[in-house]
Amino acid sequence: MASSDETNADGNSQACLAGLPAFVAEIDRLCADAKAVIAAARNEVDLEKARIEFLGARSGRLKGITRLLSGLSASERPVGGKHFNDAKETITAVFNEAKDRMAVAAAQEGGSSAGAAIDITLPGKQLRLGHLHPITQTIRRVQEIMSRLGFESVDGPEVEDQWHNFEALAIGPEHPARDPLDNFYLTVAQGVEPLLLRSQTSTVQIRVMENREAPLRIVSLGRVYRPDTADATHYPMFHQVEGLLIEKGSTMAHLKSVLRFFAASFLGGDVRVRFRPSFFPFTEPSVEVDMEWGGRWIEMGGAGMVDPAVLKAVGYDPHEVSGFAFGLGVERIAARRYGVADIRDFYRNDVRFLEQF
Ligand code: DAH
Repeated sequence: MASSDETNADGNSQACLAGLPAFVAEIDRLCADAKAVIAAARNEVDLEKARIEFLGARSGRLKGITRLLSGLSASERPVGGKHFNDAKETITAVFNEAKDRMAVAAAQEGGSSAGAAIDITLPGKQLRLGHLHPITQTIRRVQEIMSRLGFESVDGPEVEDQWHNFEALAIGPEHPARDPLDNFYLTVAQGVEPLLLRSQTSTVQIRVMENREAPLRIVSLGRVYRPDTADATHYPMFHQVEGLLIEKGSTMAHLKSVLRFFAASFLGGDVRVRFRPSFFPFTEPSVEVDMEWGGRWIEMGGAGMVDPAVLKAVGYDPHEVSGFAFGLGVERIAARRYGVADIRDFYRNDVRFLEQF
């Protein structure tokens, strides 16, 4: 409707316009039309139609008239332009008044009929937007902290072969960690080696070292899978942080410094890091990492110097390079930081729990 009117107005006026007086007359006519149409608007829909017809940015009638401005002579144009701007202001003001009037009328009507007028002086109610899951927030935080020490974030696949999940990590064929009861094997045909859902992110160490030269500093955070019964501290799917540094001259002291820096940055404040002797097939020596924060010690994961057998498996020369690695449980560090007693809460999808982060 608006555009056909506009074409008429435009077409006619372009044909018969002669100079400033005709231009001014055209604008006055348009102004009068606009006032009449706005005054006749019965509701907000009518009013919006009127706005589009007269003030619409692309095909409003007022916009159409701007083209006629160029038909004026250079001396007429300033006066014509001013007249045009005045008209636009007038129509906008008339429109805004009508709109306000309608809003007030609508509020009063609501008040009398439903007894609940909208009191626009009351404070607003903020709508809460969604946010990232606490585990995702934790992952991003860990990545950010580790990046400050030059550790680059990398990813690896969740479906792995036995070379990357076990063999290259010096977990031999008879090792109990390969037991079918302790892994999610995904099987395939007779005679074909089964793949599995990775049981640890240490797989990523191998994938990175196979493809890159030392020196290296990487961190990899992702899901791992073990057929554990879910309880307050176990879940069949959970997340690990895997760190790997390969550099000439690296030592256990560097490992401890990195872990202490990480723990202090992640938990904040006073944190102590303790190593307890342990065993992992892919590190020598191996340690369990405990952290003390808020007066309580908690076991966070394992670490150690990368075993020369692993360096050889990926084609590095163990006489040339050394390095350390560590693997921590993401749910564990998140639970510790946020005071969550049961890691199952992270996966119940109860909004009342998730909203707190
Ligand atoms: N992958 C081990 C686990 O899942 C944790 C671990 C221990 C990772 C020692 C490491 C490490 O990188 O050096 O229990």
